[in-house]
Amino acid sequence: MIYRGKIFNPQSSTKCDIYENGGLVVEKGKIVDIGDYEKLKKKYKNLETKNTNGAIFPAFTDIHLHWVQNRVKGTFSGTELLPWLKKYIWKEESKFSKKEYTDKMLAKFYKELAENGTRNAVIYSSVHKYALEKAISEGKKYGNFIIGNVLMDQNSPDYLQMKTADEIKLVESLAKKYKEKYAITPRFAPTCSMELMKKTATIAKKYGSFIQTHLSENKSEIAWVRELFPEQKTYTEVYEKAGLLGKRTILGHAIHLEDRELEILKKTGTNIAHCPTSNIALLSGRMPVEKFLKYKIPFALATDIGAGPKLSMMDTMSAYMDIHNDARAKQQKNGLKKGELEIPEITFIDAFYRATLAGAEIMGISKDHGNLNKGKKAEFIVIDF
Ligand code: GUN
Ligand code: FE
Repeated sequence: MIYRGKIFNPQSSTKCDIYENGGLVVEKGKIVDIGDYEKLKKKYKNLETKNTNGAIFPAFTDIHLHWVQNRVKGTFSGTELLPWLKKYIWKEESKFSKKEYTDKMLAKFYKELAENGTRNAVIYSSVHKYALEKAISEGKKYGNFIIGNVLMDQNSPDYLQMKTADEIKLVESLAKKYKEKYAITPRFAPTCSMELMKKTATIAKKYGSFIQTHLSENKSEIAWVRELFPEQKTYTEVYEKAGLLGKRTILGHAIHLEDRELEILKKTGTNIAHCPTSNIALLSGRMPVEKFLKYKIPFALATDIGAGPKLSMMDTMSAYMDIHNDARAKQQKNGLKKGELEIPEITFIDAFYRATLAGAEIMGISKDHGNLNKGKKAEFIVIDF
């Protein structure tokens, strides 16, 4: 089959191949060829054409979202991180101790994710084993997912908290079973003891699992981390000390960082999930994209539902362009202060790359996923004009 339409095929933050009258040749779920439709029609004479009358995009990649917050996504915008967690989120996540609620919410979540065109994702589940394993097994029908149960052994309500030793045992069994499809997920430093973070970091290395957590999203959160871990100079150094940083680690947000922290992230090859819609909703601030570009720290876009209000990566791309381009306009108007980095213009091409291929690269699945290059899996969206 040749799918005909206007094709957008992202390659990098500065390059996207666009075919006005394009063709995508698909056989047995794989992309056999891509290019100008008229040329492909001659080359593949026997193949049927499906005229889409629309635009053809690769499926999206979302590298940070909480599936167990799907029902309440966007509901409590305007509250900052810590009160938001305590007032609303703990209660919602506690409901996933029930199988019936979990099954019902999971079916809704994957359906909505598919409707939003996302097939690759790195996902936070609740603390519960059943919810995690069900999300992994059901997810196989919907795409390529790396999922982890959040770990919390301190500063959390009793009904969500586990004993450190039990948590470590559970993580070891899950990492052994799911390997690179599993993410060791210490929720964030305030809810995790150093022992838990250290031991689970070792387990991640042993089984090739991913690691995900949150870093420097909010100023009160950072102050709390400084209180809890006074031996470490910065928030990033808490995770460095625990051995949680590296090429298979994805840190959400990373908004308020000192230069020494950026250096550590660069040195360790750590990846960042940039969540602009969430950062707006929880009044967290703007991630300094110009610093991540300067330090060449890999980052991709993410919805971070339920702080982010929607599962749409299109909305996330739009917020990404707006948040930085508005800041750039202000900066250009006021002039750069001494030592201040210039905020770059964020283009559609960059946003599109960060919502597709960049995430697949971070997930280690870009050989088969992330764009429409020859040989990859045919995972695409058609958008009618
Ligand atoms: N930090 C710790 N937990 C969370 C969470 O559930 N959402 C967000 N946005 N930040 C967090
Ligand atoms: Fe998050």
